[in-house]
Amino acid sequence: MSERDQKKALILEALKVVKDPDLGRDIVSLGFVKDVTYCEGAVKATIELTTPSCPVKDRLKAEAEAAIRTLGWVTDVNLNMTAAVKAAPTTAQNPSLPGVKNVIAVASGKGGVGKSTVATNLACGLAKVGAQVGLLDADLYGPSIPTMLGTKEKPHPVEGPGGKKMFGPVIAHGVKLMSMGFLVEEDRPVIWRGPMLHGALKQFFQDVSWGELDYLVVDLPPGTGDVALTMAQTITLTGAVIVSTPQEVAMIDAKKALNMFRETGIHLLGIVENMSGEVFGTGGAKAWSEKESVRFLGTIPLHSGVRVSGDAGRPAVLSSDQKISAPFMEMVQHVASAVSVRSNEAPARKPISIQR
Ligand SMILES: Nc1ncnc2c1ncn2[C@@H]1O[C@H](COP(=O)(O)OP(=O)(O)O)[C@@H](O)[C@H]1O
Ligand SMILES: [Mg+2]
Repeated sequence: MSERDQKKALILEALKVVKDPDLGRDIVSLGFVKDVTYCEGAVKATIELTTPSCPVKDRLKAEAEAAIRTLGWVTDVNLNMTAAVKAAPTTAQNPSLPGVKNVIAVASGKGGVGKSTVATNLACGLAKVGAQVGLLDADLYGPSIPTMLGTKEKPHPVEGPGGKKMFGPVIAHGVKLMSMGFLVEEDRPVIWRGPMLHGALKQFFQDVSWGELDYLVVDLPPGTGDVALTMAQTITLTGAVIVSTPQEVAMIDAKKALNMFRETGIHLLGIVENMSGEVFGTGGAKAWSEKESVRFLGTIPLHSGVRVSGDAGRPAVLSSDQKISAPFMEMVQHVASAVSVRSNEAPARKPISIQR
């Protein structure tokens, strides 16, 4: 072994004290450390994480640098931190979404709890930290996401593989967006029957040219109706995020949604408490998540700024006001981490088909 190779081996050995906080294993055995070079005291390496989350990146960088510097002969450390989101093991089961690594459904037991707000901010927050993100507004009854993203653009026709005619999604705040709202006229109520709904959703999945995505966030309609079921049976999800307000009433509905995912064998990424504060109380959804042994993904306070930013087409997570953006960013990081854990550990499995 040459001296350089020996030094490289010692550097890797030293880096074994650095553990990925989500996965609980050291970054060397996880295969995150790449391109280690050593030259006269100077160490260079790339550390590739599986989530684009910032605090984790900064912390691991500092820990890795400190670990390398424990080697007395090191004078200089240059670490390049990158992220490559891992595809869920279930991805191969989604032939209609070839470039999509993870599909995250955002669900709630009832309407008006902030499901679309959470879905939109999740998508924009993931894009903000550098991920490739798509957002599918599958709430056919109340598509509001184009407004929340401040876009009036329509999807454009593109040519897919084999000359297939497809929709090119609209891009807003760095997120690729497709919404039922694009396909229906404004101010016109849409009445969908079961089979139409099913067909529309299937088309959504098959005819949109998403390209390469780290995450596709899907805003499901509220409740446990047709679309949610179709969804569960058409696409293999990485997992579902359930949004609930803190009060008991909303949680009874949220419990039904949670049970639907459990029955269909869909992984639960966790629960978000929205509209937390004096009006609806606080902590209800958090306590519930503990009882259900489901990860708690964060508390979003009830704040007029959230509504205002939604109405203005600039999601709260992009606000320069920390009070408004920080709770969303924290939720984004929790979701990214829950996805990373799932993608690294979960065995591939097909959703269970249930008839109603
Ligand atoms: N944390 C919050 N604070 C203040 N207003 C909120 C909050 N979350 C959502 N809203 C507002 O509540 C309304 C319903 O939210 P929305 O995301 O459309 O709910 P859903 O998709 O569950 O029906 C919207 O006007 C939205 O701006
Ligand atoms: Mg909605």
